[in-house]
Amino acid sequence: MNFDLIVKGGTFADGRVADIGIRGDRIIAIEPRIEADAREVIDVTGDLVSPPFVDPHFHMDATLSYGTPRINASGTLLEGIGLWGELKPLLTHEAVKERALAYCDWAVSMGLLAIRTHVDTCDDRLLAVEALLDVRKTVAPYLDLQLVAFPQDGFYRDPTARQNTIRALDMGVDVVGGIPHFERTMADGTRSVTELCEIAAERGLMVDMHCDETDDPMSRHIEQLAYEAQRLGLQGKVNGSHLTSMHSMDNYYVSKLLPLIAEAGVSVVPNPLINIVIQGRHDTYPKRRGMTRVPELLKAGIRVGFGQDCVLDPWYPLGTADMLDVAFMGLHVAQMTSPADMRRCFDMVTTENAAILGLEDYGLEAGKMASLVVLDAGNPIEALRLRPDRLAVVSKGKIVSRQARNDARLVIDGRPASVRRRHRAD
Ligand code: FE2
Repeated sequence: MNFDLIVKGGTFADGRVADIGIRGDRIIAIEPRIEADAREVIDVTGDLVSPPFVDPHFHMDATLSYGTPRINASGTLLEGIGLWGELKPLLTHEAVKERALAYCDWAVSMGLLAIRTHVDTCDDRLLAVEALLDVRKTVAPYLDLQLVAFPQDGFYRDPTARQNTIRALDMGVDVVGGIPHFERTMADGTRSVTELCEIAAERGLMVDMHCDETDDPMSRHIEQLAYEAQRLGLQGKVNGSHLTSMHSMDNYYVSKLLPLIAEAGVSVVPNPLINIVIQGRHDTYPKRRGMTRVPELLKAGIRVGFGQDCVLDPWYPLGTADMLDVAFMGLHVAQMTSPADMRRCFDMVTTENAAILGLEDYGLEAGKMASLVVLDAGNPIEALRLRPDRLAVVSKGKIVSRQARNDARLVIDGRPASVRRRHRAD
């Protein structure tokens, strides 16, 4: 049997060592040793081979715009939204596309091959929607982009958001978004959750809502989101992003809420880098971390992923498209430092995020899409510790990124040091 590509000798996340035989865009065989011809063979003996990273929460219309027209002085969510409002009238189709495509290159180089990005629908021109629809098409051969219609300025609060959000969905945007905590009243927020979920149910679409991204312990839109998911038969198709208010909620209420979310089959995506930076800005000390209750959600059987949210934009001045940075911050803030918990954090930025996006072709199994990343690490926990180079990235059967291993020995105090490969253990 002949293959187009064989990835030889990699260590899988579960510790197995195997060869992966690829033909066309499919994984055809995974065996301890494949003895066959191939047009190309990559030897990755001793390195971690993983299904690609997946980001379930991003803003590709705003990325790489940091400093335009100014920076966010207070560091708050609200100033970020105001700043984005100043930038919006200045956007051009070409500029949005150029920034988004540059970010997609960053993503590919990091082995990040599927991204769910929100796109602002509060713009009568729907310029960013058109630009990102173009980008989705351009990158489709190597990167899966899912677009969420996101009424940034409020589905009801912004006078034309409702019609523009529906127009965006008509144009081919994939997922229904919302921002209930930014509506004028709790009641409007609740109503927006109901109507947006009804729109999704009618159209057979998934829902991904910015939900309760606030330190206000009384912000309880997740309750309505879970209720609507169940009422409308949307189990497994609804995600609540952020849920930061849950950090500050009363414990008794949370004990009632967690089973409701689990019953409704609603998944949750905190965005650790952004939550730790944006929440608690009105606190003195002690200052709240603000990230939602990840270990408790997991314990309740709720699917949880980690998202990146922002890179170099009105809300966040850093970022590299590395989902290992995201998981690294997530495990610190959630105090998930046991070996099992750290391993889970790796899964949260790979397989769990893929499940949240509904990527059925995902995973290192025969018959699945041939997409993977090779990391200069021995196992998932070492990958989290080192956030190492991505030695090779394969997307849909093709090698899309390669990087030579950096084997240079350090010299410390005049002697060759024992440290190599950024402190790799082997
Ligand atoms: Fe967001």
